[in-house]
Parts: sequence; structure tokens; C-alpha cells
Amino acid sequence: MPVLRRIALLGNPALRTPAQAVPFPLPDEVGALIDDMIATMREADGVGIAAPQVYQSLAIFVVAPRPNPRYPDAVEEPPIVAINPEILERSPEMEMGWEGCLSIPGLRGEVPRHRRILARYQDADGAHVVREFVDFPARIFQHEDDHLRGVVFLDRMENLRGLAFEGEYARRVANG
Ligand code: NI
Repeated sequence: MPVLRRIALLGNPALRTPAQAVPFPLPDEVGALIDDMIATMREADGVGIAAPQVYQSLAIFVVAPRPNPRYPDAVEEPPIVAINPEILERSPEMEMGWEGCLSIPGLRGEVPRHRRILARYQDADGAHVVREFVDFPARIFQHEDDHLRGVVFLDRMENLRGLAFEGEYARRVANG
């Protein structure tokens, strides 16, 4: 059974430490960690989570868009587990969009991201995957990839006027 992990909050050095590459075959405890990350993300209504957020300095994250109370408009896609990821190409086209983070609870910020990326990563079996991501999944991928480098969405914001508490965001932005 997966176990819910404690989530590191902004200010904790775990969020600012670059993650280490993961060896294959995957050690059993890393397989369990991935199951725990997915359970922890779902419990917190997240659409992604990175290992440093649960105090594991490993290059692993999950991208799992799904409608939930925090992201009602998300399109549902099966969770992608990305291990040792690398973004190979980034579209010149950028898009502004609202992001939250389980490590920065209660806040939303407007963040510019590349609209389209080409990424390479290993899945939980160690297979190498090259895949394109567009729009919201691309945004999540870039957000989670940043976590592996000790970067959070606040660092990517160009203007802190685009920062809002979730309640204000819901009233003014999400509901027009
Ligand atoms: Ni985050």
C-alpha cells in the first residue's frame, strides 16, 4: 500500500537542492517512492509532483493532469512517471498561465512557459521515451523539471503582481 509522504514547503532546503540521477534497474525503495508520490499528489489534488518535494533528492517526477478541486479545467491523462528527464527542445512560443505548487500552498502565480517541448526521460522500467508535450501537460512538465534543479515557479515569474491567493484567484480569474 502506498504511504502518504510529508511535502516539503517553500523555505526548506530540500526544494533548493539539485536532484541526483536514478540508477537502473530501479531499487525497490524507489518503486515504492513513486507509488507514494502518486498517492501523495492525488490526496493533495495536485497534477504533478517531484521527488525533492517529498524530501528525496532523485530525478523523478510525475505529470498527471486530471480535473480536481484545485484544477477543475484540467484534461485527464494517465500519469506519466519521468525519470532522469531532459528537455531536448523548447518552442520559441511562450504562454502565460496560472500555476500552483504543493510546496507553496494557497498561492497561484502567472508564469511564462514554453508552449511546446520535446522531452526525453526513462519510465519506471528504464525504457527511454522521447515525447512531445503541449499546453497544460507541457506546463506541468516544465514546472516539475524545475523542481529537479531546485527552481520553483516563483523564480520564473516576471511580475509578482501576477501572484494571488487561491480564493482570490478562483473569484477573479478562474470564474472570470
Ligand atoms: Ni511544484
